[in-house]
Amino acid sequence: MEKISYSNTEIDRFLIPKKNQLKKCLKPIHEARGIPNDYYIRQECFEMEGEHLFNKGWFAIGFVKDFPQPGSVKPVNYFKNPLLLIRSTQDKKIRVFQNVCRHRGMTLIEEPAILKGAIRCPYHSWCYKQTGEVLATPHIGGPGYNYHSKIDKSELSLIEVRSHIWRDIIFVNPNGMAPPFEEVHKPLLDRWTVFDQPMYSDMSDSSFKLDVHTNWKLAVENYLESYHLPWIHPGLNSYSKLEDHENIVEYGHYSGQISTKYIPQYSTGKYFTEFQNLGSEWDTKGEYIVLFPNLILGVQKDHVFSLIIEPLEVGKIRENIEIYYSDQSMLSDEYQETRQENAKLWKTVFEEDIFVVEGMQKGRYAKGFDGGRFSPVMDEPTHVFHDWYARKILTFI
Ligand code: FES
Ligand SMILES: [Fe+2]
Repeated sequence: MEKISYSNTEIDRFLIPKKNQLKKCLKPIHEARGIPNDYYIRQECFEMEGEHLFNKGWFAIGFVKDFPQPGSVKPVNYFKNPLLLIRSTQDKKIRVFQNVCRHRGMTLIEEPAILKGAIRCPYHSWCYKQTGEVLATPHIGGPGYNYHSKIDKSELSLIEVRSHIWRDIIFVNPNGMAPPFEEVHKPLLDRWTVFDQPMYSDMSDSSFKLDVHTNWKLAVENYLESYHLPWIHPGLNSYSKLEDHENIVEYGHYSGQISTKYIPQYSTGKYFTEFQNLGSEWDTKGEYIVLFPNLILGVQKDHVFSLIIEPLEVGKIRENIEIYYSDQSMLSDEYQETRQENAKLWKTVFEEDIFVVEGMQKGRYAKGFDGGRFSPVMDEPTHVFHDWYARKILTFI
């Protein structure tokens, strides 16, 4: 695999003077300030996050369920880095490549598709196997000559990007240099070993997307706390109240919330089969965690969900949500209404959050705002994220 490196002189020049502001995130929670405004609204900061935070670490970019058939391809762009996800017909494996032709750098695939054969560049028709090797370079040696003695085709494979699959989620580490995924995320993987079991997702009614005008970090921060429940989610708060929540605090790794009153109630009277061998502690428990930087997760005894935050612009994201069940039979027509009711419930919750994350984004333009204060009791999971973020950025810049 080829390593991808970046040069960041311009970005660093802008950010270095801001280091001191960022260091305030590292103070004890009662003294700390939040991440400074610029990091939410300045293009330079957004690009810096792409170059350093995302490309040097692991982040989520897609779901395996979107590649059911061999030959399924999908292009995605994170921080303008064009990536191509493909399940190859040769060995059925999912790979991630740079979505770029080795000839003159044309993008290869513009829309999701099912490929019957090779990946063909639309410009001069160089063709690649779905496993990345170059197959054909038509007329490269002149009309009618598809080879040239000075061109070594073995050097022209598509550029593979380091990837990892965990729980149906596809992660990448574009610069190829991060420690292994299992090492970086061992604390959460260990916490949730009981959920290492098959999960099934419906293609239509357990999947939705929301476009939101906010910076990606505010979507993370809002998910991390239950403080806002009584005012923003009155429906949810009617059965899973503020006082039924506990903080999950793992500095350096992840954070979130536990609900101790997860009691599913569906008007259809049909209940989903639970995951196996969870243990009684999960009878009424739900856990809601963010795996930094961009993956929101929720686990409960009868379903789990994953939300990938896709940063589109400095003030714009797409939330990609998928709900999973414990058994294939939960995807049958018999459960359709209950699935739809469950998806609607979560969609309502995520939609209720939109105006606050958009409002906080607008608030970041207030020149006098100093990053804000944290409630030492209610906001600790948010402080965990700010601490994690500031440590990473200070290492990079
Ligand atoms: S750029 Fe792809 S074949 Fe020329
Ligand atoms: Fe919320």
